[in-house]
Amino acid sequence: MAGNQSTQRLWRDVSVFDGHDTLPEPMAVVVEGERIASTVPMSRFDESLARECREMGRGGVMTPGLVDCHTHLVFAGSRADEFENRLEGVSYAEIARRGGGILSTVRATRAASEDALFEAALPRLQALMDDGVTTVEIKSGYGLTVDDELKMLRVARRLGEALPVRVVTTLLGAHALPPEFENDSDGYIDRVCREMIPAAAEQGLADAVDVFCEKIAFSVAQCERVFAAAEAHGLPVKGHVEQLSNLGGAAMAARHAALSADHIEYLDEAGVAALREAGSVAVLLPGAFHTLGETQLPPIAALREAGVPMALATDANPGSSPLFMPTLMLNLGCVLFRLTPREALAGMTAHGARALGRPELGRIEVGAPADLCLWDIDTPAELAYAVQPGRLRQRIFNGRLEGGNPS
Ligand code: NIG
Ligand code: FE
Repeated sequence: MAGNQSTQRLWRDVSVFDGHDTLPEPMAVVVEGERIASTVPMSRFDESLARECREMGRGGVMTPGLVDCHTHLVFAGSRADEFENRLEGVSYAEIARRGGGILSTVRATRAASEDALFEAALPRLQALMDDGVTTVEIKSGYGLTVDDELKMLRVARRLGEALPVRVVTTLLGAHALPPEFENDSDGYIDRVCREMIPAAAEQGLADAVDVFCEKIAFSVAQCERVFAAAEAHGLPVKGHVEQLSNLGGAAMAARHAALSADHIEYLDEAGVAALREAGSVAVLLPGAFHTLGETQLPPIAALREAGVPMALATDANPGSSPLFMPTLMLNLGCVLFRLTPREALAGMTAHGARALGRPELGRIEVGAPADLCLWDIDTPAELAYAVQPGRLRQRIFNGRLEGGNPS
């Protein structure tokens, strides 16, 4: 049985969404080692290929492994109390002004050991993986001291070593003003620029640097200082911008060739044009929009018209988006933001990967890393149409079968 010992593995009769589009014909996909070796339309399939390969599956929909390009998975504590407060009419910004919100998670995260943070994050990450994720970005931002931010980033790195998933880390020191720096936000930004970024860069703990540019967080000028420090240490930048108001953070991020501008409900025409010119990705986070009961929609039509790539992510975090289900975001992206299912899927594959500066991921293409999902559905649109766990038949990570629900 030479075929069974082959290092080539074959999936046949699959409907392929390649990261941008659904291919017109059923396909055969061959993986060799860690990479995609060939993709062949079934109309040109030669049975001799089947004899050289080990058959792994037939039928269903194959997509790239999902890329969740914006999460805050490492944290301690719960904010269920604030969820109740918001239902009673207290706003997210008001909770933050009262010292709750992000700062409530900061208190719990500072008090937690590195091991405790790791243990708490494992099931959250597992939930994303069980729903098809093969690449995930994890931000710091609930430590807000040099030591606590590095602690969070170490946990993120450890998660990527412990589980079959690619973890991309982002330093979000400029997430909120810690109480020690009350009335001295410039002093805190100094700390981020002069100590946090250099330490994270030197220890290889951060793949990028993020900021929260908002009235309840940091000004455009302060965020620009953070970006300059990141650039001085060779780290790419991205930003939480235009989430609750329009400060012009996206245009500033674009001037710094940001990988992405995230949230962007209040993005204006000039911001859209700036993202287009910079080649930055617009990251849409319908989970936060939904959870916070927002009504201001991101300018989807203008982004589409301008050809700005749109990514979609969970923003999984304990406050604004306690939602750990990427395929739910496909549905919310379509229902709330009026994305097409094709746009939503591209947002969680090829465009999500680009938002992480990893354009080789999130696509089914010869030579690309074999991160793949085989779903028990007939068309890719069904992934966005129904919210239904359990449809992931196989999850392939780096060429190996690592999860799914084989029937
Ligand atoms: O992406 N906008 C700021 N940061 C997070 C929220 C974090 C939190 O509420 O804990 C976000 O929504
Ligand atoms: Fe976020």
